[in-house]
Amino acid sequence: MKKNLNILLILLFIPLAVLRADEGMWLPSLIGELRIGDMQEKGFRLSADDIYQINQAAITDAVVSFGGFCTGELISAEGLLITNHHCGLGSIQRHSSLENNYLDEGFWAMSREEELPNLELYVRFLREVQDVTETVLEGVEDGITEQSREQIIGRNIRKLQDEAMDRTQWKAVTKSFYYGSEYCMFLYEEFNDVRLVGAPPKAVGNFGGDTDNWIWPRHTGDFSFFRIYADENNNPATYAAENVPYKPRNFLPVSAGGVDTGDFTMVCGFPGNTDQYLLSSDLEMIIGKSLPAKIRIRTERMEVMQNQMDKSDEIQIKYSAKYARVANAWKKWQGVIKGINKVEAIAQKKDYEQKFSGWVCRDPAGRREYENVLDSLECLIKKESDLILAYEYQREILGAIEILRFAGNFMDLVEAFQNREIGEYYLDNTIDIAREQSSDFFKDYTVAIDMEIFRRLLIIYMADLPETYYPVPLQEAMQKYRGDIDGYTTYLFDKTIFSSKEKIMSLLEDPDQADLKKIENDPVFSLARACEDLSAKIRHSYRSITDLKNTIYRLYVKGLREMEPDRGFYADANGSMRIAYGQVRDYRPRDATRYGSLTTLDGIIEKSYLSMEDYIIPEKLRELYEQKDFGPYTVNGKVPVCFIASNHTSGGNSGSPVLNADGHLIGINFDRNWEGTMSDYVYDVNQCRNIVVDIRYVLFIIDKYAGAGHLIDEMKIIPK
Ligand code: ARG
Ligand code: ASP
Repeated sequence: MKKNLNILLILLFIPLAVLRADEGMWLPSLIGELRIGDMQEKGFRLSADDIYQINQAAITDAVVSFGGFCTGELISAEGLLITNHHCGLGSIQRHSSLENNYLDEGFWAMSREEELPNLELYVRFLREVQDVTETVLEGVEDGITEQSREQIIGRNIRKLQDEAMDRTQWKAVTKSFYYGSEYCMFLYEEFNDVRLVGAPPKAVGNFGGDTDNWIWPRHTGDFSFFRIYADENNNPATYAAENVPYKPRNFLPVSAGGVDTGDFTMVCGFPGNTDQYLLSSDLEMIIGKSLPAKIRIRTERMEVMQNQMDKSDEIQIKYSAKYARVANAWKKWQGVIKGINKVEAIAQKKDYEQKFSGWVCRDPAGRREYENVLDSLECLIKKESDLILAYEYQREILGAIEILRFAGNFMDLVEAFQNREIGEYYLDNTIDIAREQSSDFFKDYTVAIDMEIFRRLLIIYMADLPETYYPVPLQEAMQKYRGDIDGYTTYLFDKTIFSSKEKIMSLLEDPDQADLKKIENDPVFSLARACEDLSAKIRHSYRSITDLKNTIYRLYVKGLREMEPDRGFYADANGSMRIAYGQVRDYRPRDATRYGSLTTLDGIIEKSYLSMEDYIIPEKLRELYEQKDFGPYTVNGKVPVCFIASNHTSGGNSGSPVLNADGHLIGINFDRNWEGTMSDYVYDVNQCRNIVVDIRYVLFIIDKYAGAGHLIDEMKIIPK
């Protein structure tokens, strides 16, 4: 019996142990201390120093934060960089026109002279990480208010960063870990001359479009190439034609050997935000209230956009990027809710909270500081929950009406007019900015869409929120119109000057007092102003709760780390560089279904027969397929396209290098699977996968499709 019990116990605990495997995103500077043993056990053949070392070339020296929203990596001694197509999209789009439609046709610089500058873009290399907890917390006494704490910390951080920047000329960024228990300062070398080198047509780079977004099996060639330029001393410089390709400290060799199921993989990049340590009731609020509200609102917005886009090609072009942005999070959130329910994360977390309570009770005197942690958090979550709809609605409704945002910009102009005596220069400048914003705005604006979204979202807003949350002009209008939302919408859009490009542009030609009056009396402007005031108030009340929550979560996580000293804790993502590792792995999305871990060109051709817009492929690609003109980029006669692995990644990891056990580049990370998007809250090794474009597909496209083999010559290819 005893033996049976032991076996039972072992069986009970195995799933938990497995669950932990592959979870986590680790600071490179802590790999040596915390993870390298486990990594090597799982197949990694390098050392911690190969990953990160101060002043010595290591893997992290080949990885950059790309524009602050993605990751990129160096793959040649001459500054050649690869990231995702969707990360380079802004730059590709900006260089595209009807004559040079790089989005549709792709773009390949055949010489350095043809590489295209992108003034808005930068990349950052991480040069140094310092644990600065002690210095940052200097002067922070027990029991002081959160506000004074923040003030002291802010001062300490500024001082530290100023010193570091003086010493190194690098950019210093300090991040908080574990809700402000610990702090690290990151020093970055920033380069601003980053030129577009190549991009496949969007039928390759965004193959599958929104249909396949967040979906496995996937067949997207989501990559693009850039090059970093420096001055003649290899230092950062703003764009100048005579700048030269940057010689990086390190670049990644490219593996031609490829991957197979079970292989070790590692990802190094800049994940933005995760929330791994939330209480069950926090998660309940998120999936029960906050996400459903946001999904519902976006469903309306997307429906309106889609209706109009179907009617006109022009609107299609204007709204496709806006639509994709709205749809990306909309689709992800639905995956999050499903995933959390599927792995029963709420129940898991409840058990864990009980374990914590039990642990506190076992030594009440020694663990007094944790005594009220759970109760206090519950109480704050309850308060937050009362406010959550108002908070989400000010962002997703008040903040989503294009004309309100646009008119809101004119507050600066009104202010500049009112403070004319400060300087004509300031006013002129503001007018210039307003002109630029206006021409940008009208380039992609369709009043019929905005008006219908306004009407529909207003119905939701008024049905769900009490009148105290109505901006003043709305309160007045509803009395006047006796609740007639249609009538109010028509009035507003008829009356306003902000929906007319001609009116706004002529007003901005040489604005005078009378024009100022026109703006101030405009009903959309008044509404925008009132919405901004109201939103600020809502955000303020909301923050007073979440700041306090933050303080108590700090204590909670401190307690957890004391309770489980041997569990490898990792801090939530916060935009700092992280390493995740795991393996190429298939998964079961649902009963009786198993998804393999590798896709091939065959799958692209299969999808292309479905005659869906998102699956249209370039003729050239079909020809290569039919003629089996695959070059050396095949496995068993098939061209690999994408693969999945169990690396714990998040938004911001797009473009991250995926490396094999020898630190060679095997792919570019670009997405996660729908069943696994809940990994921002709970990671489950059986469901969570990152999606990667296989580097052999990248090589195939540039060599066989684009004829840009000169880029491959620049790389260091490790043969099969
Ligand atoms: N889901 C990917 C990530 O969150 C974005 C992929 C871009 N592609 C698209 N069809 N929207 O950002
Ligand atoms: N597609 C995401 C990105 O752009 C990656 C993810 O959320 O997994 O960073």
